Amino acid sequence: MTDILQELERRRSQARLGGGQRRIDAQHGRGKLTARERIELLVDEDSFEEFDMFVAHRSTDFGMEEDRPYGDGVVTGWGTINGRMVYVYSQDFTVFGGSLSETHAQKICKIMDMAMQNGAPVIGLNDSGGARIQEGVASLAGYAEVFQRNVMASGVVPQISVIMGPCAGGAVYSPAMTDFIFMVKDTSYMFVTGPDVVKTVTNEVVTAEELGGASTHTKKSSVADGAFEDDVEALAEIRRLFDFLPLNNRERAPTRPFFDDPARIEPSLDTLIPDNPNQPYDMKELIAKVADEGDFYEIQKDFAANILIGFIRIEGQTVGVVANQPMVLAGCLDIDSSRKAARFVRFCDAFEIPILTLVDVPGFLPGTGQEYGGVIKHGAKLLFAYGEATVPKVTVITRKAYGGAYDVMSSKHLRGDFNYAWPTAEIAVMGAKGAVEILYRSELGDTDKIAARTKDYEDRFANPFVAAEKGFIDEVIQPRSTRRRVARAFASLRGKRLTNPWKKHDNIPL
Ligand code: HXC
Repeated sequence: MTDILQELERRRSQARLGGGQRRIDAQHGRGKLTARERIELLVDEDSFEEFDMFVAHRSTDFGMEEDRPYGDGVVTGWGTINGRMVYVYSQDFTVFGGSLSETHAQKICKIMDMAMQNGAPVIGLNDSGGARIQEGVASLAGYAEVFQRNVMASGVVPQISVIMGPCAGGAVYSPAMTDFIFMVKDTSYMFVTGPDVVKTVTNEVVTAEELGGASTHTKKSSVADGAFEDDVEALAEIRRLFDFLPLNNRERAPTRPFFDDPARIEPSLDTLIPDNPNQPYDMKELIAKVADEGDFYEIQKDFAANILIGFIRIEGQTVGVVANQPMVLAGCLDIDSSRKAARFVRFCDAFEIPILTLVDVPGFLPGTGQEYGGVIKHGAKLLFAYGEATVPKVTVITRKAYGGAYDVMSSKHLRGDFNYAWPTAEIAVMGAKGAVEILYRSELGDTDKIAARTKDYEDRFANPFVAAEKGFIDEVIQPRSTRRRVARAFASLRGKRLTNPWKKHDNIPL
């Protein structure tokens, strides 16, 4: 009997060694942790239960039958993060470069199926050379099985990808279909075709880092939602993000203990808006002053910084924030910011996370670049996302809300539940200067007349009261009491029930 028990331990030790000490040392030498070390940091201590530790590939080509390491290049199982359940897969680069074989894919699919069935998120730690070359189409089939599950799980359980090494070729499409992608600086990259193929086909000379490193994907392509310094920071931040999210689409996000008075008054907000309407201010200050303990988990902070998205808590409950940022492009909406915010709004709506929208928007960014790039269709994404969202929606207009952008930014007309404005709000078709130049074109030579017309327009429209008279703004509020008003609004909406008409699915302008 003892022998049998010892045999189990011997096999377990062998499995834990993955591709062997030499390759583990090489992994550490690159500043990377191993698949198991990563899981240890991601989940609560002693909470990880591994599945399929002894699975080995079934390939017999290229002498593969002689080399059948336990685990087949991926560690899978479930554990908890601050006591809440999560399914995890972590690719083991020390085993055939973490490449995906038929059995490797089956292991991932097994935990994805269980996650869907049991209603818990999936976190994938990616570190892989892609399709297992020796297995050919069996490996491609394995990828497609994972892709199909990514699609089915979308909107059912949160899916998070962390790229912690190579992720190339079609392999990128599994992370691409998950809700969030995070990368580790300097050690991870993602691309559909690598630098060598790029050079052959297009003659461009580019390094892997330039083509698909963390900087590229967080600043240029927006494929990734954030980048971290190293494995340890990445895993700690994923734990922090996880705490904001519900386990599935039928549960609410957890309520965390909070020590911040929901009725906290912030007199400094009364002077946040500068006297000069063209002067910027930092919208992050308002977000921090509304949030419990000033905690804002920002997503995609290095891309389209003219809009801010991320999570806060109010009275311990998760709220998704979308806010124009006057510090960048005057807070204009454009292609990138519309896409960025639209996807976030849809994530929040899919997982019953209420949305707070903070508005200071002078309109859509003009120009051929925007029009040729399809700003009409991309702007419509945000409009569509807000219009279909049924979660509680609270909006605060701090300053400008001009033109179509007023409509888009969670206006009353898109089923905003509470639409507040500060006394400094200006809700109009456009700014006074532009309006007067169009309405009084024939008087443009007469500066006095134009100044008078401009003043008249400002007096009439550069305020929130015209919209408030029509009931488009529910209440004009003091900036200092924004947290209290917003907290009360969300509290009153906890029982909100709103459903859209039955449809197979909508046809959002993609
Ligand atoms: C089998 C692989 C492998 C793969 C790496 N290895 N990639 N084994 N299939 N795809 C093995 C290597 O043989 C080596 O084994 C070990 O992993 C580490 O690889 P190295 O090359 O020594 O490491 P490194 O120098 O860090 O380079 C890593 C790498 C490189 C950049 C990922 O290995 C590489 O380019 N691999 C091929 C990538 C690729 O073309 N994959 C297919 C992409 S197409 P030993 O025994 O020496 O330790 C694809 C299609 C998906 O994935 C389609 C889905 C629809």
